[in-house]
Amino acid sequence: MYAAFRSIGAYVPSKVLTNSDLEAMVDTSDEWITKRTGIKERHIAAENETTSDMGAKAAELAIKRSGIAKHEIDMLICATISPDYFCMPSTATIIATKLGLDKVTAFDISAACTGFIYALSVAKAFIESGMKKNVLVVGAERLSSITDYTDRGTCILFGDGAGAALISATEDKNEAIIDIHTGSDGSFADLLMTPNGGSGSLHDNPEREAAGCFMQMKGNETFKIAVRTLTSDVVEILEQNNIASSDVKHFVPHQANYRIIKAVGDALNLADEQVVLTVEKYGNTSGASIPMAINDIYESGRLQNGELMLLDAFGGGLTWGSALVPFAGKGK
Ligand code: COA
Repeated sequence: MYAAFRSIGAYVPSKVLTNSDLEAMVDTSDEWITKRTGIKERHIAAENETTSDMGAKAAELAIKRSGIAKHEIDMLICATISPDYFCMPSTATIIATKLGLDKVTAFDISAACTGFIYALSVAKAFIESGMKKNVLVVGAERLSSITDYTDRGTCILFGDGAGAALISATEDKNEAIIDIHTGSDGSFADLLMTPNGGSGSLHDNPEREAAGCFMQMKGNETFKIAVRTLTSDVVEILEQNNIASSDVKHFVPHQANYRIIKAVGDALNLADEQVVLTVEKYGNTSGASIPMAINDIYESGRLQNGELMLLDAFGGGLTWGSALVPFAGKGK
């Protein structure tokens, strides 16, 4: 049995936070943000809109487009670092209930911006082993709830949204997800973290303060490691599978920073039309960014059956991953 990437869906909240809005909040400028990141605006969830609300909306679309009935879905994985609740219940179980999925296996994955690729690899393994047949993989983030809007080094980067894909069993090897690489290095954990709130910061820690529950990042160091790691990772997955970069129809990188995407794209000699870019309008939506970007090319009619996607991501942990995924659904 193989795992096929059957359909895609996404949800983008309506409220927009522009660079000029941020100019009024912190010491920054539209020019600086555009030049250093490529971001012009990002979407922010409504006050009462949760990660699971957005994830369920994206998943509902992915289910509809897959042609697979809800009762056939036997697992739901949610990649998120901004869950509805900190420890439990998982956001995946809440999404499953909102979707009306009955007694489905549901759990969250914590791999930051690489979360969607990690979740995809778990779905692939469960399907190939024969344990599950139809797995919903959701990436959903309400990063605005863990963003410090007084810190110009991070608040300009992040946005909210969700994306989802239905991965299903197939006997047709041409439809199969070809390969997925994942990796991590916890010795760089302090580059990107929410330091407080977990058992790593004890409750009597005098340093404990609300700000520690927000994301903190050493941006420049992270940037350099991201470019280095992502470049070697995508080169490796293509080489190991004897696939030339010219055979990739859509390079769908995690949308963290235009300069990182450009550096990796240039290393692979990719033409502009091969590179999917949404960072300008959504910013960095962590685990949601790759499925939201795939949904963009689907919605615009650019994604057709059989076309090869190369996914790659890098994030807190540190974690990274890449995937070679033919689109096994019907184009719009
Ligand atoms: N507006 C204006 N100036 C800013 C600023 C902002 N929003 N944020 C930082 N600066 C300033 C800094 O204070 C620094 O000033 P100084 O030179 O006087 O000290 C200067 O700009 C350069 O800062 P630096 O952090 O070196 O900039 P950079 O080119 O690395 O860009 C990021 C910053 C965050 C955009 C970039 O490092 C980045 O994208 N990092 C990786 C993000 C990422 O991939 N995360 C992992 C996956 S989610």
